[in-house]
Amino acid sequence: MSDVQEATNQLLDVNLHGNQRSIQVTESGPRSESEHLQVTIGATVPTGFEQTAADEVREKLGSSCKISKDRGKIYFDISVESLAQVHCLRSVDNLFVVVKEFKDYQFKETKEEVLKDFEELAGKLPWSEPLKVWNVNTSFKKKKTKRKKINQNSSKEKIDNGQGDKAEERDDKKGFTNKTLDSRILDYYENPAIKEEISTLVGDDLASCKDETDEGSKEETPEVLKFRVTCNRAGEKHCFSSNEAARDFGGGVQDYFKWKADMTNFDVEVLLNIHDNEIVVGIALTEESLHRRNITHFGPTTLRSTLAYGMLRLCAPQPTDIIVDPMCGTGAIPIEGATEWSNCYHIAGDNNPLAVNRAANNISSLLTKSQIKEGKVSWGLPIDAVQWDICNLPLRTGSVDIIVTDMPFGKRMGSKKRNWNLYPACLREMSRVCRPGTGRAVLLTQDKKCFTKALSGMGHVWRKVHTVWVNIGGLHAAVYLLKRTPQAFVHPVEQHGERTPW
Ligand SMILES: C[S@@+](CC[C@H](N)C(=O)[O-])C[C@H]1O[C@@H](n2cnc3c(N)ncnc32)[C@H](O)[C@@H]1O
Repeated sequence: MSDVQEATNQLLDVNLHGNQRSIQVTESGPRSESEHLQVTIGATVPTGFEQTAADEVREKLGSSCKISKDRGKIYFDISVESLAQVHCLRSVDNLFVVVKEFKDYQFKETKEEVLKDFEELAGKLPWSEPLKVWNVNTSFKKKKTKRKKINQNSSKEKIDNGQGDKAEERDDKKGFTNKTLDSRILDYYENPAIKEEISTLVGDDLASCKDETDEGSKEETPEVLKFRVTCNRAGEKHCFSSNEAARDFGGGVQDYFKWKADMTNFDVEVLLNIHDNEIVVGIALTEESLHRRNITHFGPTTLRSTLAYGMLRLCAPQPTDIIVDPMCGTGAIPIEGATEWSNCYHIAGDNNPLAVNRAANNISSLLTKSQIKEGKVSWGLPIDAVQWDICNLPLRTGSVDIIVTDMPFGKRMGSKKRNWNLYPACLREMSRVCRPGTGRAVLLTQDKKCFTKALSGMGHVWRKVHTVWVNIGGLHAAVYLLKRTPQAFVHPVEQHGERTPW
């Protein structure tokens, strides 16, 4: 039995038979019944990488995915035994179990009617099985020491992801914009898939629409579950805001379950995702995005690990491949590579000594983490960090199989003006080190104009195979998959009769 299976079985024992707290949660049947429970899982993924995530799910869980028209989400069916494996997926950010999907929800004419329907909806949903899954899942969630801080960060994350104006105003008042360093840096690379409004039901909002009798029950029933509702709304034709939907649907949830609303210290996060006339109600299975892994030393433009994984996957690494990130920053790409493709060799380089230092520290932290996990001294990871200039790499011609890098956008890093010299020089040097015929490169940039111009002069060495459009912190960026043509690299000086040593 694998570790994952064993963990799942233990959790089924612990969670389904112990600590039963509310009507719906205690409805859990015998273990055998729950083991075969089939549920639909929803996952948010970096926009543009929905297909990559679907491929990972098919490969690792054997489930086929539905890719939502609501960009950046995928859905797939699993049995609850596979829940631990779902948490091991590398391309997904947040996970939720689907309570109910309405493909063509009929909104009533007036705002009052629509909101009344939301309030009544809670009592009509099939909560029982999703709640069993939530219960099993509770032990998988990443535990953090400062729970309150997480909630602050995650609520800010949601605001940034969705550019949620109203939620932002409200949380500003509550002092929630007091960001920590790493959340500020990560926010730059967060994922506002589409113009989306996001609101989280605040305990105070809900309390104001509840009668006072709740106060008494708070003290008498300390075990009552705490919850919040988060509404993600996208679409032009709605006559209500996400805040109003969260408030009224949340009121219905509270009336139905007699749970207590708590914005920051909740047990259950109920999700109300509204995209035009499609509605998905879910229960969150992750407390914070799964992209928050590997990196302990952040830089100004640290890439999400989930996006790094997607980029690496695009070029299908094969055992023994030499994979280079020549502009590695904090090392998010090669570190993800070394953990997921440990049968390849990964090289991380940057011209900035601070960046190389951060990458080295991140590698070192990962090593320590893996030593603690394994309980023994580890001999290392297949990765090295070097300081170099991409325009003059200390690597033999044709010695690299794959290049995966996140180029300076010219906004936070470098400048657009400098990119006009840097990009052609990068592509030339990358074509030199990359193996003709089989080599490939996956390059992320927001400076598409400059990149396209630079590439247009390199058709003899690089062939563009595919472009993935991604949204990075509100910036419309592109990930280019290039194949190295079979043409041998000719060094510019060689063309003039001289030759350099390599
Ligand atoms: C967008 S950032 C990479 C961020 C990285 N993916 C991460 O997760 O931290 C681009 C990086 O390119 C590096 N860079 C810029 N010019 C370079 C050059 N000529 N040679 C090597 N690295 C360079 C910068 O120092 C910066 O760290």
